[in-house]
Formats: sequence, C-alpha cells, structure tokens
Amino acid sequence: MPLKIIRDDITKLNCDAIVNAANNTLLGGGGVDGAIHRAAGSELRDECAKLGGCLTGDAKITKGYRLPCKYVIYTVGPIWNGGNNNEESLLRSCYIRSLRLAAENGCESVAFPLISSGAYGYPKDKALDVAVDEVKKFLSFYEMLVYIVVYDRSSYQISQSLFDNISSYINDHYVDDQFKPMRRFSARDLYALPDECISEDREPRPFPSLGQMEPSASGSVGSKNSLNDALEQIDESFSEMLLRKIDEKGLTDADCYKKANVDRKLFSKIRGDKLYKPSKSTAIAFAIALELPLEETKDMLMKAGFALSHSNKFDIIIEYFIKNKNYDIFEINEALFAFDQKLLGV
Ligand code: APR
Repeated sequence: MPLKIIRDDITKLNCDAIVNAANNTLLGGGGVDGAIHRAAGSELRDECAKLGGCLTGDAKITKGYRLPCKYVIYTVGPIWNGGNNNEESLLRSCYIRSLRLAAENGCESVAFPLISSGAYGYPKDKALDVAVDEVKKFLSFYEMLVYIVVYDRSSYQISQSLFDNISSYINDHYVDDQFKPMRRFSARDLYALPDECISEDREPRPFPSLGQMEPSASGSVGSKNSLNDALEQIDESFSEMLLRKIDEKGLTDADCYKKANVDRKLFSKIRGDKLYKPSKSTAIAFAIALELPLEETKDMLMKAGFALSHSNKFDIIIEYFIKNKNYDIFEINEALFAFDQKLLGV
C-alpha cells in the first residue's frame, strides 16, 4: 500500500496508530507530544508512566484512549548536534522500530509526524528524506498505508537545490494558458499532408482516404504499414499497454504497483479491466514505475485520455523528473507536495 504525505493535525487522524515524537520520559512535553497527550486525556499518561521511559531510537506503544486512533506509538528522536553524533542512524531506528511495532500490533495504517524536525532541531529536509527512505524500504516488503503528516507549511522542506532546480524549470517552461501565443497551424501541420498535396496558392486537396494512401518511399506518415501499426497502437488500451510494458521490462505486478506507490487493490482492478480509465496521477505513476521516457509517457497518458501541458505546474514537474531520469516516485511526491500539487499514486 502507498505512502501518502498529507497536511493535517495528527491527533485528528483515525488511522490504526499514530506515532508520537516523544522524549525519553514518555510523560509528555510540547509540540506533537503535547498535542497528543492533551487530546488523549490523562489515562494515556497513566499508561505511559508504567512503560519505564524509552531510549532514543526505540519505540513503545499504548492504547489511544480519547484519540480517534487505536494505538499511540512513542518514539524518541535524536537531538540534532551537527550530524556527526549518530543522529541519522538513531532517526532511522525510530521509523524502523515504530513500523515494526505497528505491524506486530496488526495495524493497517499508521501516521508519522516528522520526528526530531521540531524542538530537536533536525534539518527538515534531511528529516523528511530519512522518513521517506525508511518508509519506502518498509513498504517494499510489507503492505501498510503510511502517512507522513505535515502540520504546517514551515515544518516541511525539500532540499534547497532540488527546490531551486524545479522552480527554474517551471519558470523556463510554464506557459500561462491565457498568454499562450496562438500558434498558426499550416495545412501541412493540421492534416500532416504530404508535400505534393500542398501548394502555397491553393487550398489543400481533400485528405486522401486510407485506401488511397500509397506507402511513400521514405516509409513516412503515408506508408500503409506504419499507419496500420499506428492504428493498432491506438487500439491498445491503457491497461493493455501497462501490462505489455510490465512484461517487456521483466517486472512482477508487485514490483510495478509498489514502484508506482499504488494500492494492490487498485492494480487488480486495472489488470482485470481492459478498458479501465485511471486518474491522471495514477496513469503517470505507472509511467514513472515503468521508467518510460517522455514520449512513451505521453503515449501511455493519451491511452488514458490525458496529456502533459506546459500550462500545468504538476505536468512540468513530472516532465522535469522524467527528463532528469529520476523515477523515484517518493522523491517526486516530496517535490509535488512542496509545490502544493496532487501526489502520484493513491
Ligand atoms: N500534528 C502533526 N505534526 C505536528 C503536530 C500535530 N498536531 N504538532 C507538531 N507537529 C510537527 C512539528 O511541526 C514537527 O514537524 O511534529 C514535528 C516534530 O516536532 P516536535 O513535536 O517538536 O518533536 P521533536 O522535534 O521530535 O522534539 C521532541 O519536543 O515536544 C517535545 O516532548 C517532546 O522533548 C520532546 C521534543
């Protein structure tokens, strides 16, 4: 199941477990720790008092009491001290142990705040990278819906260089619809007519019917074979192309839907319905999972009834990653979230 990055107050989520960025006493504090204790009520603290504290990098669990979730998992992140004091491995351990506890308690969904990225001063972009990387590893072998919960805009940052690169790519390519210069389409463009049909002082002759199309020497647009091939390709549906590409790339179904950050159930629906029409973000997610170059991505999208446009930031960001051959859907989602765009997958 997928990883979702959402903006919310973690105390409001009714998933199976929420994770608390606690301190070693487990007896409450500020930040998300304080919010969880306030929302859960005093019984939570009473149960925590019996746990005997928690080591940094470790995780413990209690019931959720007045919270909508069933469990609260407590983990204690490292205090940032420059990055050379084992901070990263301790932070990774927080996610690994919390996910293991969630699995051991039969949770199908779990929500994390960005551990250590608040009072403990862990750089937000590094904290996000650790969180996404450890969740991604866990989801490669385990089915669970995992949320990374961002409380406010300021608590979410991707790497500055990535943010700057994407921003300049958007600036270079974004075409605001209302200002797009109307491109004059010549008859040659509109009808893709062979030169002999066009003369500057004459309207183009009617488009020759398919039967009259003679394969031209160059085997270009007019050749019967390539036209038949093209028609065959048009007949191929989105899901047929998806399944064909999975086979061609030697992937398993699970490889593909996990790389696409798509739920197994949705993939089964697509596999079972030749004419299934996915959402645009799901169609792109599969193109990314298949690591298709831009033109093949556009072809696959067209079969689902979509196109990429330079008047759409979401599309330009997708194009940026494909052109840079970066098919890590989790990193793409981090960037999409940073630009307030819909995420890929479900
Ligand atoms: N829902 C989701 N996320 C939240 C919420 C909330 N209600 N409140 C805060 N956050 C986010 C912060 O924006 C930050 O991104 O949780 C992340 C972790 O910040 P902190 O709560 O400050 O946790 P941390 O940096 O790990 O420091 C832990 O702070 O609160 C004390 O007792 C706690 O001593 C411990 C220390």
